[in-house]
Amino acid sequence: MFGDDYQTMPGGETVFTVDPRPVKFGVGAVDELGADARALGIRRAAVFTDATVATLEATSKALLALEQAGVAFEIYRDSLVEPTDASFLTAATFVREGDFDGIVSLGGGSVIDTAKAANLYASHPAPLLAYVNAPIGDGHPVPGPLMPHIACPTTAGTGSESTGVAVFDLVSQKLKTGISSKWLKPSLGVIDPQFTYSLPALVTAATGFDVLTHAIESYTALPYTQRPRPAEPDQRPPYQGANPHSDLGSLEAIRLGGRFLVRAVRNSDDREARNAMMYAATMAGISFGNAGVHIPHAMSYSVAGMIRRYQPEGWPSDHALCPHGISVVVNAPAAFRFTAAGSQQRHLQAARALGAEVGADADPGEALAAAFVNLMRAAGIPNGLAALDYGEEDIPALVDGAFRQQRLLKQSPRPVTESDLAEMYRDAMSYW
Ligand SMILES: [Fe+2]
Repeated sequence: MFGDDYQTMPGGETVFTVDPRPVKFGVGAVDELGADARALGIRRAAVFTDATVATLEATSKALLALEQAGVAFEIYRDSLVEPTDASFLTAATFVREGDFDGIVSLGGGSVIDTAKAANLYASHPAPLLAYVNAPIGDGHPVPGPLMPHIACPTTAGTGSESTGVAVFDLVSQKLKTGISSKWLKPSLGVIDPQFTYSLPALVTAATGFDVLTHAIESYTALPYTQRPRPAEPDQRPPYQGANPHSDLGSLEAIRLGGRFLVRAVRNSDDREARNAMMYAATMAGISFGNAGVHIPHAMSYSVAGMIRRYQPEGWPSDHALCPHGISVVVNAPAAFRFTAAGSQQRHLQAARALGAEVGADADPGEALAAAFVNLMRAAGIPNGLAALDYGEEDIPALVDGAFRQQRLLKQSPRPVTESDLAEMYRDAMSYW
């Protein structure tokens, strides 16, 4: 029905679902936050943010809008930049004890993810690992709906406002892992590009590359038709694989990223570029929430979790950390060189959508990797894992963490072994 990319196979999936939550997009959207909260029945909101976002002018507008609509609220400012199991539980206690009937989150992916987790553990109390993805956690399904949650992303990045995923550091195991359920999806995303106007260059670059990798990974993910059809509809995974609907948003986000990402990084006054990247993040978020990501994200978990000394400009400087977008993008060119053999045409199309001149006889993996590396250099992204202080001796531990992310690795357009991952980490040490 959908051409060569989606040929059916015996016993293979023939059905995909499209389950996006509503989003409201544009400059001024945040002024309508109070009316949106009331429409969802929120009278007393837990407002999640962090110390940096709390000082933004757009945040003042959001809080004013709540006040003017008669929505009472209490602010929780302690969301961590990279949330942990402990920080999720502290946030859940705040929600449980505050007698709230809804949640508003104003922040990057970490704040929105903290709000999702707090909403989950306050609505359906359980030990932390109960809902965490197996095999790291118990993988119990979330029993049902949570309180209404309006998510206002303040970076053009994670797309967390559209996804049912919350990611955190499981400190005892030095691992990043997550919880995923359709019930975690916020009830509404209010996406106002004004929040991004004051972001520093490297934050814009890291979040922008997160957008680009979401889009390219979704576009090149194993097609939904290549998965066995489940016996029951509720066994269909939330990450379904590439499908004709997710392709639309993915390709548009790749095109916008290729055109506007470097401009948005280099000039904070370039409103056209920053608005376009916010829209790209929205499109990519809807697509990857439905299709899923694969190797670059699977590899990123241990890159971020094992970081020792790296302290990027623009983030809190009291401890080493690797921002999510950077931990993903450093793996991406190496991963695309590997995955291209599984879907040659799509890798070529992604390179072209980024704006690269690619001939018909070009090597698809090289073409996409080269286009990506050019953008990384132009945007000031660290030159591979070596620039994050990793070396050959770290590869076994990095592989160990990545190989545990089977939920994501299954989405790769070609099967991936531990030695393939080791080769990709080696390739990702430096690119120029
Ligand atoms: Fe991401």
